[in-house]
Amino acid sequence: MNYQWYPGHMTKAKRMMQENMMLVDLVIEILDARIPFSSRNPDIDQLAKGKGRIVLLNKSDLADPKENQKWVRHLENQGVHVLEVNAKSGAGVKNIGSLVERACREKIERDRRRGIVNRPVRAMVAGIPNVGKSTFINSFAGKACAKTGNKPGVTKGKQWIRMGKTLELLDTPGILWPKFEDDTVGMHLAFIGSMNDEILYADELACDLLTCIRERYPGVLTDRYGISEEGSPAQLLEAVAESRKCYARGETLDTKKAAGILLDDFRSGRIGRMTLEVCDEETDL
Ligand code: G4P
Repeated sequence: MNYQWYPGHMTKAKRMMQENMMLVDLVIEILDARIPFSSRNPDIDQLAKGKGRIVLLNKSDLADPKENQKWVRHLENQGVHVLEVNAKSGAGVKNIGSLVERACREKIERDRRRGIVNRPVRAMVAGIPNVGKSTFINSFAGKACAKTGNKPGVTKGKQWIRMGKTLELLDTPGILWPKFEDDTVGMHLAFIGSMNDEILYADELACDLLTCIRERYPGVLTDRYGISEEGSPAQLLEAVAESRKCYARGETLDTKKAAGILLDDFRSGRIGRMTLEVCDEETDL
């Protein structure tokens, strides 16, 4: 399947980010801890040149704990200010204040020298769709102040959120970039729900996901669905359909329904905590 999605509203959103960049000191980029590499938007690198940067590895509760640690270490070694967080429960979120201070130390010092004290740091919250931007802002602010939703691209318009006296956050809509350099990136984004499901073929997406899970976490499919991990991806999907009693009419297997179950199990973490992208020395984020 051709995994590409760059609807018109994203071009507009990117332009808006570009315009707002001059208003902020810092960019807080939220990544999905299950796919830290593919969830990093290269356009944000270019837009945020010269700004302080923080990377949050969100949905860490859905990712492999050992891999979370490896990614954090790896990014720290590259000089990135990074934190592992779970925006849904709020775990890790309280440590962001000190990270902001570290990332903006130079700016705060510069302000102080000019006699400007207590000017809040202004930060843009950026990330691809569905990565947890609104949930993070709500969790960080301690109240429901940003709209959240399960459809990619649901966060709209410009919203400043004041976090006490020291920080102001600007919420931005989730954006992808015009062309994924390789198909795996697009495929991984589709797995985590950052691409509109309606433009994808559920069966094919599920077959690709089954292939990845079998490769990365052998035994998990057997544990979850009681199926053999031998055979083609299509056979695996049929086995999931049988195991979950997905029948369309009579004896015909409903593989689309099975695909939905598998995707839900993966996205919600019911299938287990998984990181699909392993970091190594070569990985440059
Ligand atoms: P966005 O603004 O970046 O588009 O993402 P949003 O906050 O709307 O979050 C998208 C989905 O991801 C929501 O699920 C949200 O609850 C979930 N989510 C965000 N952060 C985390 C996290 O750290 N861990 C887990 N497990 N889930 C997270 P939803 O199903 O759309 O909504 P809901 O039913 O959970 O409210």
